[in-house]
Amino acid sequence: MHMLVMGLLAIHALAGVFWVGSTLALTHSYFELTPKLFRAQMVAATLAVVAGLALWGIVIRGAQDPMAHTLQLGAALALIAAGVQGSMRRTPVRAQRIAALLLSGTVVCMVIAPYVT
Ligand code: HEM
Repeated sequence: MHMLVMGLLAIHALAGVFWVGSTLALTHSYFELTPKLFRAQMVAATLAVVAGLALWGIVIRGAQDPMAHTLQLGAALALIAAGVQGSMRRTPVRAQRIAALLLSGTVVCMVIAPYVT
């Protein structure tokens, strides 16, 4: 079980870092680059969400404590960010900027969750 959790965490963190990092970079880059990276971003988003849900099922399960609530908030922000990136493709720079704010909130929630009391 430990190996499974570690593997899922590795996939989760790597995919999440690519998703968030590319989103932050695209807020400061050329308009044309955003559509080219869209597919890779959505693959990374899918991997991060699927691994995150699996971790939720294994590690958190039915817990209703401050850590679980903080992770829930972070996950909700990430899902909204994916929706923004998917639905605002005609205004890609604005979409990346909104998603960058939301995903920054996700990262903060994910890393502080174990310490929230
Ligand atoms: C729907 C989206 C997401 C869900 C359901 C989710 C779920 C989770 C869960 C349940 C954990 C706790 C794992 C454990 O304690 O063993 C976790 C940890 C973590 N998540 Fe997410 N996550 C999501 C999105 C993201 C994104 C987009 C990132 C971006 C980098 C991210 C980064 C992290 C990191 C770095 C940790 C480890 C935190 C630590 O232990 O210090 N997550 N996530």
